[in-house]
Amino acid sequence: SCLMAFKRKVVFFIFALGLISLILSVLWDSSSLCHLYQNDMSGFKRGRDDFLKLPNIDCSRNAPFLVILVTSRLGQMEAWMAVRNTWGKERVIAGKRIVTYFLLGNNSRPYDQIGIITENILYKDIIQKDFMDTYYNLTLKTLMGLEWIHKFCPQSTFVMKTDCDMFVNTYYLTELLLKRNSTTKLFTGAINMHGNPIRDVNSKWYVSKEEYPGENYPPFSSGTGYVLSIDVARAVYVVSKKIPFLKLEDVFVGLCLAELKIQPEELDSGPTFFASSIPFSPCHYKKIITSHYHTPAQIILYWDAMERTIDEGCPSDQGSSPI
Ligand SMILES: *[C@@H]1O[C@H](CO)[C@@H](O)[C@H](O)[C@H]1NC(C)=O
Ligand SMILES: *[C@@H]1O[C@H](CO)[C@@H](O)[C@H](O)[C@H]1NC(C)=O
Ligand SMILES: *[C@@H]1O[C@H](CO)[C@@H](O)[C@H](O)[C@H]1NC(C)=O
Repeated sequence: SCLMAFKRKVVFFIFALGLISLILSVLWDSSSLCHLYQNDMSGFKRGRDDFLKLPNIDCSRNAPFLVILVTSRLGQMEAWMAVRNTWGKERVIAGKRIVTYFLLGNNSRPYDQIGIITENILYKDIIQKDFMDTYYNLTLKTLMGLEWIHKFCPQSTFVMKTDCDMFVNTYYLTELLLKRNSTTKLFTGAINMHGNPIRDVNSKWYVSKEEYPGENYPPFSSGTGYVLSIDVARAVYVVSKKIPFLKLEDVFVGLCLAELKIQPEELDSGPTFFASSIPFSPCHYKKIITSHYHTPAQIILYWDAMERTIDEGCPSDQGSSPI
């Protein structure tokens, strides 16, 4: 009977343990649900590290190969949808996962906040912090993206920064990144090796001598599209704190790279990143990475035409075209 009593105690103990863990898991679930709800509905609740919005991803469990960060503003919902349905759609290419998120500042108009909250509930692909969302704050926006990578997704392999009026061929980009055989020390894009500050006060890119006294810019990539390996992205974020602020985000990233002594490199034998608009043809677009100044309708049209013919050969392929 002593044995019986012992057995009963064991059974009771196991039962109690099960009950406690059930209660705990329910509590845990509801508290995280509640947190999600507050995060979305208020729109004003600060998340970790002052981020107002964070995308729905746990990089420690399922790290992406490439994270594409798209600088954007409010009132570009149509462009966001075009990007989400084309190159920005989460997909796996050559076994590598690619995800795309939008970078936003704070446009203080309450009506716009409602728009962001709704978008964020539906898509969970927005990274937002509380800074004024203006053209000259683009540097802050880009740094916010790199901060997010540094703090929330250091497990990813590459990061791309681009805009939402861009065509981005993620297939060719992935192919070239894999061909490179190395996942470190990369900075690539539409490289400008010999840029100078524009001193004409009427220019959009005007920079005064106070803002930048130098005669030349270090090598930098056009902000329309550049790619960094994760080590470089994190190093740029860390070193950015000691580089004097410059409103031109692409030059600012160039200044960070110069400080880090990282040379931009080309991914291919010819140019592939274009800051201009490249006339569309499926064969041409298969061998470029970016093209600029596209409407949402163009992005959709070009993407569909390119993707439909992705496995077909092109005249320029030497010997690799199917018969
Ligand atoms: C956005 O900016 C406005 C005006 O500066 C401020 O009142 C508001 O609290 C900010 N919103 C968030 C979510 O931080
Ligand atoms: C950039 O954002 C900061 C923080 O919200 C703000 O103080 C500053 O005025 C903004 N700068 C520009 C040029 O809009
Ligand atoms: C990458 O490795 C493959 C196979 O080892 C090789 O054929 C290719 O030339 C390498 N590419 C570069 C850019 O080094």
